[in-house]
Amino acid sequence: MEPKDYEQQISNIVLKARLVLDDVNDLEGLTNFRNTYLAKKSELSSLMGKMKEIPAEERGAFGKAVNDARANIENAFNEKKEAIEHKALKEKLKKERIDLTLPGRTHASGKMNPCWIIIDEMCDIFASMGFDIVEGRDVETDHFNFELLNVPKDHPARDMQDTFYIDDSLLLRTQTSAAQAHTMLENEEKKPIKMICPGKCFRRDDDDATHSHQFGQIEGLVVDKGISLADLKGTLELFVKKMFGEKREIRLRSSFFPFTEPSVEVDVSCAKCGGKGCNMCKGTGWIEILGAGEVNPEVLRMCGYDPAVYSGFAFGVGVERLAMLRYGIDDIRRIYANDIRFLKDFSEK
Ligand code: PHE
Repeated sequence: MEPKDYEQQISNIVLKARLVLDDVNDLEGLTNFRNTYLAKKSELSSLMGKMKEIPAEERGAFGKAVNDARANIENAFNEKKEAIEHKALKEKLKKERIDLTLPGRTHASGKMNPCWIIIDEMCDIFASMGFDIVEGRDVETDHFNFELLNVPKDHPARDMQDTFYIDDSLLLRTQTSAAQAHTMLENEEKKPIKMICPGKCFRRDDDDATHSHQFGQIEGLVVDKGISLADLKGTLELFVKKMFGEKREIRLRSSFFPFTEPSVEVDVSCAKCGGKGCNMCKGTGWIEILGAGEVNPEVLRMCGYDPAVYSGFAFGVGVERLAMLRYGIDDIRRIYANDIRFLKDFSEK
């Protein structure tokens, strides 16, 4: 082969390759191009195979000419590849552009119902004083809800707790005090008891701003040797200060419950006026928060504890009442209405 022949052939291949490359616009076209012009079976490679037809003294120049042509095509190919990749990246970025000015998607999350905040806090406070947390049951027997608590069938105290009966002996618990009898009877070795029991209670009350046919109570019971009213007062004082603040005082007023003797109502000094008298405490400076007393010896005896050896105190506090006082809620029905605008106002302390 004469030099002018292969020189012509090489420049034709380069020219053709560049023309074809001009029309390549995407990655697929690039791959096809490489397979045709730069791979093993390309025209340039087969031209290189014709080395033996070249006179020996021309071979160096021939080889160099083919290699230069390959470098030329390769350079053009690489430039094109970079341009196509750059364009593809730009398009991708344009498509995936994030509009930071769009408002985000917010999730409306619920908050704890104020009653649960109170129950959790009560459990924490009393657990820190060594009380066990006991679970009661919503459906009770007349025996546990009333009789073991010294309220026989014809007792007038039953009138105070108008009851949802399921049948003659089953009812919806009217008071968490039923848990007192369970705890004492289930304690087979008759060991000392220190427990609180949060739970739902049910009474056939007409619902209004301060009454609900369903409400929460927390029962407390301590049974041991030598337990007196002073222990009750000390325990409740500590609880009130932790729940309502260091400055709060309590006072005990004489009252009556069939299952405690003596019985007391416990008042807390008004947080709003500090005891001077205001609309919140109806001018008295005090707000009633719970019923309590020394466990009636008759109840101890029915539940298997010898009243000559053991004594105890018990108290029962309304959960909604505590929540209403703590958060200044004026209508108990708000607590159950599940209005998210109301519920989101409360947060844990
Ligand atoms: N069970 C009583 C009530 O519901 C409250 C109470 C509990 C009183 C324990 C004394 C002792 O009114």
